[in-house]
Amino acid sequence: MTRYEFIRGMAVGGSLLLTVPILFNSCSKEDDEPDPGPGNPGGGEGVVVDLADAKYAALAADGGFVYVGDIILIRVSATSYIALSKICTHQQCTVSYNSSTGRLPCPCHGSLFDSSGNVLNGPATSPLKKYSVTLANNKLTIK
Ligand code: FES
Repeated sequence: MTRYEFIRGMAVGGSLLLTVPILFNSCSKEDDEPDPGPGNPGGGEGVVVDLADAKYAALAADGGFVYVGDIILIRVSATSYIALSKICTHQQCTVSYNSSTGRLPCPCHGSLFDSSGNVLNGPATSPLKKYSVTLANNKLTIK
């Protein structure tokens, strides 16, 4: 083995040693599990959003929206709100909300959903999951 071959072998091996842990860390179990916290109203209690909380300030105006866990919560009016899954049914990008059109575009491949979660443009073929929202005492309950 020449000196050059030895140094080249060390460089390749060193690169692999540095790369492998990065690959495994980026695919940790944490990333694969659904968010068990707020935003997954699978339980009977649902998710409660206190409109007095500053982190929901975007809901003070019609057309405003926030993300709560895996949900996009949209204010239609002071007494009407929409809650949909924020996860595009095509390849799981996060959808947004366009208050001027009332539609939810996906930035990744152009899918478009209406405010009921129905697909208007693909490539997505399945609707966004829709949740019920009730307002009482300045708090929203999403189920
Ligand atoms: S992930 Fe939304 S259109 Fe592809």
